[in-house]
Amino acid sequence: MHQLTEFLKGVTCDVDARLDQLIPAGATSPRTLHEAIRWSVFAGGKRFRPAILIAVGEALGAPRSTMLSTAAAVEMIHTYSLIHDDLPAMDDDDLRRGKATCHVKFGEATAILAGDVLQTLAFKAVADDAGLSAEDRIRIISLLAEASGTPYGMVSGQQLDLDAEGNELSIQEIAEIHAQKTGALITASAVCGAIIASAREEEITVFRSFGEKLGLLFQITDDLLDVTQETATLGKTAGKDVSSRKATYPAHYGHVKTGEMAKTVRDDALKGLNDLDRDTVLLRGMVEFVVSRNS
Ligand code: IPE
Ligand code: IPE
Ligand code: MG
Ligand code: MG
Ligand code: MG
Repeated sequence: MHQLTEFLKGVTCDVDARLDQLIPAGATSPRTLHEAIRWSVFAGGKRFRPAILIAVGEALGAPRSTMLSTAAAVEMIHTYSLIHDDLPAMDDDDLRRGKATCHVKFGEATAILAGDVLQTLAFKAVADDAGLSAEDRIRIISLLAEASGTPYGMVSGQQLDLDAEGNELSIQEIAEIHAQKTGALITASAVCGAIIASAREEEITVFRSFGEKLGLLFQITDDLLDVTQETATLGKTAGKDVSSRKATYPAHYGHVKTGEMAKTVRDDALKGLNDLDRDTVLLRGMVEFVVSRNS
């Protein structure tokens, strides 16, 4: 666990430094919009998606320096998704990463635009990354666009999530929402790490499947934390899923059975790693981190 803590700390430091280069303080106009972007990006956050990208890439031998722009891009897409997720028209939250949400601080219009611009900055960061071959850049851009959009990406998952409010869904339908709204970007992060490391197709397949399980596990845990943790620990308002009548695992199964389900998905994710002839200690640690986190 000590090794994992050090790894996560190092990733946050390196990715934040790259984010700071890509979104420099004070330099860009319009000033308020730029402040809004930095407010949300540097509000904290676990940097889980960059960490999984880098953990996969390093397990396959890629130098960290080759992955930082893509890792920063993934974090920008994720932050954009959070800014929009918190808007009054969506989950209507006023606390994120322990701070006021972007629209509470800067107004709705600026928050919408901050999300929009983070998305375009993310794709530009990959397109401009001279450390990657043109072929890898195109592959990564296509993969991230697919994972962020429709018909099976983050945006489609967000639409399904909103449409599902107040409805009784089957567990398969809930799992599909989770796979799209959260799993797709986590899976793409794992696959990006593998692509940058020039992994063989069989290895990419293993990491795609690993990412899908980890992504589902991540959202099940997020749903669980919403009912088991306090707002101060979460840095976002606890109990929101119940009041919004969201389709979640705890709503379907109760939180005790959801905890057991999470362990089954965890075991499944860990099992997939047995097929790799690589050092998977850190990757296993990342799986444990997802189930044992408290925010
Ligand atoms: C929250 O993601 C939104 C979900 C997809 C569940 P994180 O739990 O990774 O949020 P940060 O980045 O640490 O704030
Ligand atoms: C959000 O899921 C998934 C995204 C794509 C942002 P949630 O709505 O459960 O995320 P939180 O709980 O607000 O972080
Ligand atoms: Mg939501
Ligand atoms: Mg939300
Ligand atoms: Mg949630």
